[in-house]
Amino acid sequence: MSDGKSTTWDANLYLKFADHRMRPALDLMGRLDPANGKLPCHAIYDLGCGAGNISRILAERFPEAPVVGIDSSEEMLAKARSQTVDARVTFDKGDLAHFKPGLPPGILYSNAAYQWLDGHIDMFPGLLKLLPSGGQLAIQMPRNHEAPSHASMHEAAVAGPWRDKLTKVRPIVRVEEPERYYDVLKPLCSELEVWESIYQQPLTGKDPVAQYTSSTGLRPYLELLQEPERTDFYNAYAALLAKAYPTRADGITLFPFRRLFIVARRA
Ligand SMILES: C[S@@+](CC[C@H](N)C(=O)[O-])C[C@H]1O[C@@H](n2cnc3c(N)ncnc32)[C@H](O)[C@@H]1O
Repeated sequence: MSDGKSTTWDANLYLKFADHRMRPALDLMGRLDPANGKLPCHAIYDLGCGAGNISRILAERFPEAPVVGIDSSEEMLAKARSQTVDARVTFDKGDLAHFKPGLPPGILYSNAAYQWLDGHIDMFPGLLKLLPSGGQLAIQMPRNHEAPSHASMHEAAVAGPWRDKLTKVRPIVRVEEPERYYDVLKPLCSELEVWESIYQQPLTGKDPVAQYTSSTGLRPYLELLQEPERTDFYNAYAALLAKAYPTRADGITLFPFRRLFIVARRA
């Protein structure tokens, strides 16, 4: 599951939790310098744009810049194009591991995508070097791999008759300690902010945390199974989560979610 490209993305299920996923995207966007959206002939890139929700908000925040969303998933790109009317926002198919901008970038923005790429930390200095002096690289990645939501995937995978089929799923790519990103980027930066936030996400409904991860981290497991095994595995995982994330007195399930933010300004 370290390779987001080989996973089929279910745009509708992903968007079910769009509000919770939007909050960190906006927190990251809040650190962008408006001047970088006004550089003549420079674009803002949304790397791993998914269904384009954030690309469209970037275009509202930066009304003078072309905004280009890049993603490897045809399904996500189709959704993004079908929901976007502003001709200033365009979407291209591409692999983030080999990203080459068509227009020079003033801002490289990425919300919840690089955690899918092996060795992403080694790509970040190269991304920063694509920017002009003062340009910004802004990245948010979930860093929740040690939480029960993610640890229970492995626990459920090895605890049933599906065990042999699920050994093919590669472990989640590690998002490193914050200081590792600081050390790698600092020599190239005039300013660098690295921080973490833990969002106490209030969820509702049946199996809310399992539903949440079904559209992201759990997908590579589900895709390897046929019915009825697929549902049996899902239920085993959901049962583990029900213990880890109890429903509160008001019917809400709190799902704490740790995220890492990096905002780097090119020296
Ligand atoms: C969790 S979604 C985030 C989408 C969007 N940034 C958002 O926050 O709503 C991750 C996206 O990264 C894309 N992705 C994963 N690996 C990729 C790669 N190597 N190259 C391009 N896109 C990739 C997936 O297709 C998916 O749309």
